[in-house]
Amino acid sequence: MIRVGSLLSLFCLALAAAPAAAAMVGASVFDRCKVCHTVAAGAPSTVGPNLHGVFGRKAGSLAGFAYSPAMKHSSIVWNDDTLPKFLRDPQKFIPGNRMGFPGISDERQLAGLLTYLKQVTQ
Ligand code: HEC
Repeated sequence: MIRVGSLLSLFCLALAAAPAAAAMVGASVFDRCKVCHTVAAGAPSTVGPNLHGVFGRKAGSLAGFAYSPAMKHSSIVWNDDTLPKFLRDPQKFIPGNRMGFPGISDERQLAGLLTYLKQVTQ
């Protein structure tokens, strides 16, 4: 019985830690994005557009950033469905866009990145 009990508490611990662990994975993946993107509200865009408030934003719509025609004219809205598709393979999802990033094929890294992005872009 003690065994079952400790297994159960281990299981609960793992469940509680999962979102935090995902965000930690995401933070390290985001190091690769930071080279080109800022996330703070009102921060200037650098190589890529500032990503503050990106969830719910129409692709290519941040005022003052010179997007590619491909990004500007896509009718995509960034959300839990479209962001992973784009970040898995940017050129496949929006052919001709100018984001110089090959994509993330590791699903765990991608999920972690999404969790992290949601936290830091709000
Ligand atoms: C080498 C620079 C570079 C890197 C690295 C990079 N990006 Fe980008 N990103 C860009 C550029 C440039 C654009 C605009 C592309 C266009 O206009 O076609 C862009 C566009 C985007 C957009 C669309 C934003 C909008 O306003 O529509 C998102 C979302 C995004 N990047 C997320 C990321 C994430 C997350 C990472 C890391 C996994 C990343 N990017 C890595 C340069 C980069």
